Amino acid sequence: MKITVVGAGAVGATCADNIARKELCDELVLLDIKEGIAEGKAIDMMQTAALLGYDTKIVGSTNDYTKTTGTDVAVITSGIPRKPGMTREELIGINAGIVKGVTQNILKHSPNAIIIIISNPMDTMTYLALQSSGLPKNRIIGMGGILDSSRFKYYLSTAIGCTSTDLQGVVVGGHGDTTMIPLTRLATYQGSPVSNYLDAETLKKVAADTMVGGATLTGLLGTSAWYAPGAATAALVESIVRDEKKLFTCCVSLEGEYGQTGICLGVPVIIGRNGWEKIIDYKLNEEEQAAFNKSAEAVRNMNSVLSTLSI
Ligand code: 2OP
Repeated sequence: MKITVVGAGAVGATCADNIARKELCDELVLLDIKEGIAEGKAIDMMQTAALLGYDTKIVGSTNDYTKTTGTDVAVITSGIPRKPGMTREELIGINAGIVKGVTQNILKHSPNAIIIIISNPMDTMTYLALQSSGLPKNRIIGMGGILDSSRFKYYLSTAIGCTSTDLQGVVVGGHGDTTMIPLTRLATYQGSPVSNYLDAETLKKVAADTMVGGATLTGLLGTSAWYAPGAATAALVESIVRDEKKLFTCCVSLEGEYGQTGICLGVPVIIGRNGWEKIIDYKLNEEEQAAFNKSAEAVRNMNSVLSTLSI
């Protein structure tokens, strides 16, 4: 198994570190356009192998895509992260051209690769990768909902006073500060609805905090977060390479599911060796469906910006 992570910034490097420690592949290529950064981080990680007891071979490369030949799963994190006060959507002008070029370069050397998109605005970048590559839809997966759902469980755990590993919580829709939808109605604490433990006001605050979870960290860190995005991406990669059939919220191409067509948006999907395999219908209620439609409209507007860019 060969995995490539494009972009050796904080998110890409953290993702690569998680993948290596989990031994999800024989060879992991970390590639960046900036001279030496991928090579340096690859060697630094390899120097933890004896201490952490893993045999993953990590290779760094400065923009040499021949090193990625035969990649099974490619993770695209390249592009710029947001700064405090910015929305993810504001990155489209710079990141769209980068993501399109990187996707083409990966597929030139690995035509059968499954592509995971992290770069923001992620929903639109996923749509761009699908449209520009012409790949079968099951091989293009945007990672946002896994991260947002993990943040949702974090905020629920702090409100309830429990461990987040005892919680089930799902965020669907766009990966945007105003487009994501934490499904509070369906969240459970070891099988018991969280509404048994939190009043409506608190649940609303948990949902609101989740929606701006990324922006909150960007305000504190001065740049995008990396530990949770890196770990969320590694969990997605793991379900692919180990064919775990895990049910995750991922940004995938909709053809009528959840009432939407011709868009990539976060929905619950089964993840296995062929990429995303099946969309699961959570039977949204009227209010949730209305929020989903509103989210889709906002992402569609973002997607329409692509045609105004010379990429
Ligand atoms: C986040 O929410 C980077 O979009 C990512 O942290």
